[in-house]
Amino acid sequence: AATLREAADAKGKFIGTAVADHRLSDSRYNNIAANEFNSVTAENVMKWDSIQPSRGSFNFAAGDRLVDFAQANGQQVYGHTLVWHSQLPSWVSNGGFNATELNTIMTTHITEVMNHYEGDVEYWDVVNEVFNEDGTLRQSVFQQTIGQSYIANAFRAADAADPNAKLCINDYNVEGDNAKSDGLYNLVQSLLGQGVPIDCVGLQSHFILDQIPSTLQANMQRFAALGLEVNITELDIRINMPADSAELQRQATQFGNVVSACLAVSACQGVTVWGFGDADSWVPGVFPGQGAACLYDDNYNAKPSYNGVLTAL
Ligand code: XIL
Repeated sequence: AATLREAADAKGKFIGTAVADHRLSDSRYNNIAANEFNSVTAENVMKWDSIQPSRGSFNFAAGDRLVDFAQANGQQVYGHTLVWHSQLPSWVSNGGFNATELNTIMTTHITEVMNHYEGDVEYWDVVNEVFNEDGTLRQSVFQQTIGQSYIANAFRAADAADPNAKLCINDYNVEGDNAKSDGLYNLVQSLLGQGVPIDCVGLQSHFILDQIPSTLQANMQRFAALGLEVNITELDIRINMPADSAELQRQATQFGNVVSACLAVSACQGVTVWGFGDADSWVPGVFPGQGAACLYDDNYNAKPSYNGVLTAL
């Protein structure tokens, strides 16, 4: 295949990227986003602080641009994200609401956003990063105010808003078999037992070079055995800078191994990378001294990692 998306199409899978709205005006960026991927995720513009920065005022313009881009290029849109403790405006996090009020605010947000994008967005990360590393639930404002039932409430509201969207729970450090992924497994198993409409698990997969969990595929398989789709949603593999050529070669192999793990599990419908160009990646800003985590270098030249993905697809 000549492009990642051609290869993925031939397998019936998606290969996606996070897209930064403000980068679409750069033709090199725009061309790669359009030509190499058959799925797109908004890197930021569908988050709560972007869409509902103050109560009752909804800004869909930037998200709509991404939907237009996707439709112009025949791409799926992966919605990210409805309920998350981060990039949550302070009117929500510090509003002092009681459980009933916050539940109404949460379900209103879900309903308004999903109704707006109904038919245009195939998947939604309904809840994002709800776990602590030990597998207990994170003390977000939603958990503290509403209690654990906020998660079931969110999925039920999402299903009512758009019955055709696939509804996902997404997190990081849940890619291998560990306490956090056990917590996730136990939660989704219990939600399914209660009839809560949940369709998919997203493994973010913000990896470190040479530290891809060896249990990735087996962990995906156990979620699949619950009847859920399980996707790789935010893949990058960061390297201590500067990265040398041996490291870039190992990175290529490891990107390929992650894609191969997805292809080996029939319930995995695809892999999304969290940006494709090293220059645009969130990694250097959040993990000082680390970078080179993507498929293209700072000048949008394909790296060995690009070929690692292409070969694996
Ligand atoms: C990151 C974006 O890449 C940054 O631009 C932003 O400043 C912060 O959020 N997990 C997630 C993503 O679910 O939404 C995060 O994206 C990366 C970690």
